Amino acid sequence: MSAFSQPLIRRIEERDFERVSEITNYHFPHVRVTPSKILKRLSKGFDYFVVVVDGVVAGFADFKLMERKVKLMGLAVDPEFRQMGIGSALLAKICEVAVREGKSAAYLQVKQSNPPAIKLYQRNGFVITREVEKGAESFYVMSKSLET
Ligand SMILES: CC(C)(COP(=O)(O)OP(=O)(O)OC[C@H]1O[C@@H](n2cnc3c(N)ncnc32)[C@H](O)[C@@H]1OP(=O)(O)O)[C@@H](O)C(=O)NCCC(=O)NCCS
Repeated sequence: MSAFSQPLIRRIEERDFERVSEITNYHFPHVRVTPSKILKRLSKGFDYFVVVVDGVVAGFADFKLMERKVKLMGLAVDPEFRQMGIGSALLAKICEVAVREGKSAAYLQVKQSNPPAIKLYQRNGFVITREVEKGAESFYVMSKSLET
């Protein structure tokens, strides 16, 4: 993190919607996110954290607190801000919130064709629990216990 000041993780605000849409659509073009879709997701119980480095939103993660667990929906860090621990910091933040809310585990789906993300999750305590096929794409379901 030496070239940058410490990143700040905070809940998404309306002024971030455009930038989070841009980052999402760059990494997950099939999703086609817009600021109004983010607003709609927030009203449906999805939540977002953004990471701000030197005033710039460098990445985000969105998640949903389910009845007993937290589901990580998406996570993306802009290429110029990678390998600095931002992805790990976002995961830690979401797990921290989930623990505070009494959730027992965190889980997510990741494409089997995405080794950097799988490695990130494994380094942060997630393990592969099963495989899911969706059309031509294969996913791993990965989860992490939040119980002490
Ligand atoms: C996957 C992704 C979110 C990782 O984000 P990131 O901010 O680079 O993640 P981190 O920096 O926390 O960890 C990545 C690596 O940096 C290392 N790292 C962590 N802190 C570090 C530091 N201070 N200095 C150097 N390296 C560090 C980690 O150990 C990890 O190393 P590894 O590649 O050997 O496992 C990012 O690559 C991304 O946005 N990819 C595209 C979107 C995507 O695939 N999202 C996941 C969909 S499920």
